[in-house]
Amino acid sequence: MSEDPRRETRIPLVQMAIVAFVASAIGIAAGVAIEWFPEDASTQAGPIDRLYDVLIWSSVPIFVLVTMIVLFSAWKFRMRPGEEQLDGPPIHGNTRLEVIWTAIPAIILVLLCAYAWIVLVDIEEARADEMRVNVVGQQFAWTFEYPQADGEPIKSTQLYLPVNRPVRFYVKALDVIHDFWVPAFRMKIDAVPGIETRYRVTPTRLGTYPVVCAELCGLGHAVMRAQTRVVTPAEFNTWLAEQKAPAAATGEDGEVDAKRLFTEGNGTATACGACHTLADAGTSSQTGPDLDQSLAGKDAEFIEQGIVAPDAEIASGFQAGIMPKNYGDTLSDEELEALVKYLGEVAGK
Ligand code: CUA
Repeated sequence: MSEDPRRETRIPLVQMAIVAFVASAIGIAAGVAIEWFPEDASTQAGPIDRLYDVLIWSSVPIFVLVTMIVLFSAWKFRMRPGEEQLDGPPIHGNTRLEVIWTAIPAIILVLLCAYAWIVLVDIEEARADEMRVNVVGQQFAWTFEYPQADGEPIKSTQLYLPVNRPVRFYVKALDVIHDFWVPAFRMKIDAVPGIETRYRVTPTRLGTYPVVCAELCGLGHAVMRAQTRVVTPAEFNTWLAEQKAPAAATGEDGEVDAKRLFTEGNGTATACGACHTLADAGTSSQTGPDLDQSLAGKDAEFIEQGIVAPDAEIASGFQAGIMPKNYGDTLSDEELEALVKYLGEVAGK
């Protein structure tokens, strides 16, 4: 029986324990059943998802306990009409209670931290036969570089990885902070100008997964995406060999296939068709202006400026700063010339 001078309240401990148990069971079942994450596609994903489940198991009962005490107190001990001037019973501390409510959370926290640390050491462990891939972030595109023993690194706007081969990413940024994230791998890290950040992943599942920029980096942040293609080692080697050959859009004779350049890019320059609609090329993205409208009847000078200095003149309804400003560098002179000629011929037709 309580000493409260205002009223006596029996605390129904047994009933509360039953309610807490049922609510916790429902909360944990729901928390574990919900698919919080996309398909897991790396050896790192399993331990990270398990850690998440352990956090649900340990935090749901604590949430239920705290919420129940708050709700019960608000219900049983709330102020009633006429009690405005009353004060609660004086309390001068309860050493045993304070030791208990300090020690138990401290033990839970230390255990969870130790477990999380073990998981971290495990997923960051170096593996034999690691492949190095450099990741470069800039407003608003990713470039992936595969260093070659004999010469220049191979550059690609798509991330190709052979399945089951450990990879170590070396991540850089050219302008502002970005964040290299492949949700299916679960790992992410900031790309910071001036330093190189790293992490390891071993892809375990064939398929195509999005690469996402996870750091607000400007107007084009939301479109700063690429694809990860996890392929068989044989497919990877074929792809790598193709990249070593002259750009696909440039034929053996040096002739540039401008339509192909438009729809596929050249390995360094992102494909125009990834963001622009152009009927002749069969592309329909609306990230940037519809070129059949914005370039129809324009002269070569206007079209070239639109490619190499995209912010000089902005189509109505669109914002500056979204289209990469590096096409002057990533396209060869021949490619640029062919692209301008092609767009002048087909836009609006
Ligand atoms: Cu790059 Cu957000």
